Amino acid sequence: MTVKQPEAIEITPDRFDNLKPYELTDHLERGRVLLFPTPPLELPSDEDLQFLKQKTPEYHTRKNISYYPEADLIRGIKAPPEIEQRTQAILKAYQERVGACLRRLVPTFTPGWRSATSSLRVFEENNRGIPIRARSDRIHLDAGTYGASRGDLILRFLTNLDDKERVWRCKGTVSDLVETYGEAAGLERGDELLRDSMLRRMGSGMVRGLSRAFPSLATLEQSAYDQAMRHMHNYMKESDEFHQDPEGMVEIRFKPRSCWLVFADMAGHSCLSGEFAMINTFMVPRTNFRHQEFSPWEVLDRYARGKSALPPDIPIGS
Ligand SMILES: [Fe+2]
Repeated sequence: MTVKQPEAIEITPDRFDNLKPYELTDHLERGRVLLFPTPPLELPSDEDLQFLKQKTPEYHTRKNISYYPEADLIRGIKAPPEIEQRTQAILKAYQERVGACLRRLVPTFTPGWRSATSSLRVFEENNRGIPIRARSDRIHLDAGTYGASRGDLILRFLTNLDDKERVWRCKGTVSDLVETYGEAAGLERGDELLRDSMLRRMGSGMVRGLSRAFPSLATLEQSAYDQAMRHMHNYMKESDEFHQDPEGMVEIRFKPRSCWLVFADMAGHSCLSGEFAMINTFMVPRTNFRHQEFSPWEVLDRYARGKSALPPDIPIGS
């Protein structure tokens, strides 16, 4: 089995207003990274960026400072009220601008989607002293960050706000990763891989209710699908063998003030270096895919049924 390099597709400003239907979504459905050398939206003002860079680092309490639009709450910061309020206002406004931008660029993904988080990173990613499963510099598929997604996908729009490049190392897309490493990650073929027990469904309902007031509790909600993706995430982050094998590995460099868009649960990725960035996340129903065969749910479903996890070969635009 060959592990594929996730590709980066550059989208220049002359194309923003002349896109064919599905031109961008077809790439994203295949686990590719869309790279915008010129931002397709208005970035936060220079004054706001200076404020975030200078005033927030000392008040960080978590890996990210995150604004949760559904609960209208900010987490990961403990600061005097005027600093917290201004930080929240900047993150909220940017999430709204990113949402409007994505409605224009990838409109077919947006029906029924959920605005999940607007997050700020202000620390150097290289060698952050945090546990291995939380480290961004180990290649992984995102999983479990928003509780039970049950197959909805994690669409991330990232903005490099730093004066230096942000560097990602990527390896594989979800189908070839599951096909090659599913067994090593502990994924057992069979119906149970994607089926939720009655007990789990009841527990999920309770957690979902509580997480409306306490958004971070959402991560406690689990489904069989999310657990399978979590197995992949943990295996990839923890395995030295996986990281030492260069097959399918590629480095992607993001210039200062560039943006990129990717399904973080479809392209194996890590952040080797980079400091000041925004990460805006939306949960997209898998039923919005034009070709659901590419979705991680269907990848796992094929694997569970003892078939190849790889999708059929469907050309772009067809
Ligand atoms: Fe990630």
